Amino acid sequence: MAVIGLGLIGGSMAAAVRQNRLAGTVVAFDRRYEDALLGQELGVIDEAAASIADAVTGADLVVVAVPVRATESVLAEIKPHLAPGTLLTDVGSTKASFVGAVESVFGELGANIIPGHPIAGSEKSGVAAANPALFAQHKVILTPGEGTDPVKLDWLTRLWEGCGATVLTMSVAYHDEVLAATSHLPHLIAFSLVDTLAGEDQNMDIFRYAAGGFRDFTRIAASDPVMWHDIFLSNRDAVLRVIDHFSRDLDQLRTAIANQDSATLLTVFSRAKAAREHFSKMLSGQAYVTDMSQNQVTFHLKPGGRMVGDIRVPGDKSISHRSIMLGALADGVTEVNGFLEGEDSLATLQAFRDMGVTIEGPDNGYVRIYGVGIDGLQAPRGPLYLGNSGTAMRLFSGLLAAQPFDSELTGDESLSKRPMGRVADPLKAMGAVIETAEAGRPPLKIRGGQALTGIHYEMPVASAQVKSCLLLAGLYSEGATSVTEPAPTRDHTERMLEGFGYHVHRNGAVSSVSGGGRLTATAIDVPADISSAAFFLVAASIAPDSDLTLRHVGMNPTRVGVITILRLMGADIEVSNEREVGGEPVADLRVRSANLKGIDIPEDQVPLAIDEFPVLFIAAACAEGETILRGAEELRVKESDRIQVMADGLEALGVRTTVTPDGIVIPGGQTIGGGSVDSHGDHRIAMSFAVASLRAVGDIVINDCANVATSFPGFVELARSTGIQISAEGI
Ligand code: S3P
Repeated sequence: MAVIGLGLIGGSMAAAVRQNRLAGTVVAFDRRYEDALLGQELGVIDEAAASIADAVTGADLVVVAVPVRATESVLAEIKPHLAPGTLLTDVGSTKASFVGAVESVFGELGANIIPGHPIAGSEKSGVAAANPALFAQHKVILTPGEGTDPVKLDWLTRLWEGCGATVLTMSVAYHDEVLAATSHLPHLIAFSLVDTLAGEDQNMDIFRYAAGGFRDFTRIAASDPVMWHDIFLSNRDAVLRVIDHFSRDLDQLRTAIANQDSATLLTVFSRAKAAREHFSKMLSGQAYVTDMSQNQVTFHLKPGGRMVGDIRVPGDKSISHRSIMLGALADGVTEVNGFLEGEDSLATLQAFRDMGVTIEGPDNGYVRIYGVGIDGLQAPRGPLYLGNSGTAMRLFSGLLAAQPFDSELTGDESLSKRPMGRVADPLKAMGAVIETAEAGRPPLKIRGGQALTGIHYEMPVASAQVKSCLLLAGLYSEGATSVTEPAPTRDHTERMLEGFGYHVHRNGAVSSVSGGGRLTATAIDVPADISSAAFFLVAASIAPDSDLTLRHVGMNPTRVGVITILRLMGADIEVSNEREVGGEPVADLRVRSANLKGIDIPEDQVPLAIDEFPVLFIAAACAEGETILRGAEELRVKESDRIQVMADGLEALGVRTTVTPDGIVIPGGQTIGGGSVDSHGDHRIAMSFAVASLRAVGDIVINDCANVATSFPGFVELARSTGIQISAEGI
């Protein structure tokens, strides 16, 4: 391997390659020969070459690590000495300029030339600062061309990974745009701000009293001026675009301050605060992103245990989503307590911020939403990313179909596989213009500015999400919109609309709204989520000697199927302190161990316990006798195919089941063994198998558990404090 230019980056790469034994010999050439000799002395490289020709001849990899402006002349010097198969790469901060230099020297970006950019650095420079650990846990961006040799790309990727880096590939143009925004602009602002203040008359005093914020903010103004001069000139177009964008936004803040416009200031600041807090999850500073692939969480469980305690599980997910949606559309300020601070409901919250709604919090479940009124949403600046949340995507589709602006809804890998035709089709019948990907899957592209007309819709599946989507679209439609459900489904939307003063006409299986009304802000107290409580209801039922109390659990009759089913199986669940809070019934539940028996689950309970089946399957496996579930094909299109994934997980633990198209048969009384289970990124599958450990005879490992954070932040700690022997790795 030959390194041309032995500064901080070239030297660190050479040192990392040597330390990790990724190359036979590392040779370096530097215009300042003494630097190359110093590198040799320090053990950064094996050999200092006296000329570029000496360094490059015979090398199978050449790394150009010279200042951006020197690239072209260095490439011209290298060219005559390059062997045909030699891989050529660079480490420069801008990529279009490197490709331009390559094209002018070689005519084209050949198969063996791969531009690269390690996103790592230090205020120190020179070979003496070379650090073999500089790239560990940092990203390296490669920008291969269309004709790049895939074998070479793989080789270079593995080399960087061997230095501890994570490698990403993207196009040259995209790289330069992203870096202009995330690196070049902040450096420019830091240089400019320090220079401005240094020019003030009082500069010594200003710097003397400078607060920590100034020091943090301007740290990067101490970077190498020559290097940054080169970067700005070589990435000129992308930098100019981002400067213009920033100047407009800064000007908007100036105007807001001049006009004492608190709403704009609060909106921008709270949106930015949320964005900063979710930094690692942010895509281009606009959308809420959870990149679960970056965050592999594994649960480890020891067998056995008993459940005792007095706990409150986090807030109801369905109600939390709806509280943000209706609060945002209301006139006035809505205060929410008990809000679920899980990834799904946070995605909804962030999406409304992206549509111009000021939302304070969440802070320990408290959220304050400054409603913008039914017609007050603003066009988001990019696609709304809804993570793992089917509820968010389906409810948003109804709401956005009626807005004056276009929008696009995207989600994670699991959400991208879920059916959206069930909402897009009836919305189209109301006059919406919606495009889905193949087979009705996300992303959804919604054209704004359509006048919607109310319809009557007979839902083919019992789905609260479809019903809610259409009722939300109905708020904006001409005339009445009514929905008939084939079986009762959760009615939080209907109840909450009433709470916001919007009448929903309900007659048996039919719910309808008339368009054209307004919502009035209210206070919302979100009860604990019965779907989260379900894990503890089953846990305390199956674990011997258990006695567990769950407080303030939502007991909406459309949600209590899990209690009905568990009681039919013989569970000992005592309901007390029943009351109504903000239009939703709540109660405390005390559950003690019981000898469960298998049952034929009544089909009318399926929609009322739709999210609780994974953990009910665990109860069934521990029961005496057979449990049969029918009429539950909907489980196949949840966050995973919950019938198959549960059957596979149970099998991995030695529990036999028979899968049917619309359900499962679970013979009870089987021994749950130890083993390794794949949750397929489905939060409820992961938590269900954690519960199974209470009756297992061996250790259980559950993979792919990061999504537990979508509905149940703090699950591991709460489970552990009540008796499940769980630990999590990777959080
Ligand atoms: C939900 C409805 C249910 C449920 C989901 C939340 C809601 O989905 O599974 O977790 O908040 O409306 P379907 O309406 O698709 O059954």
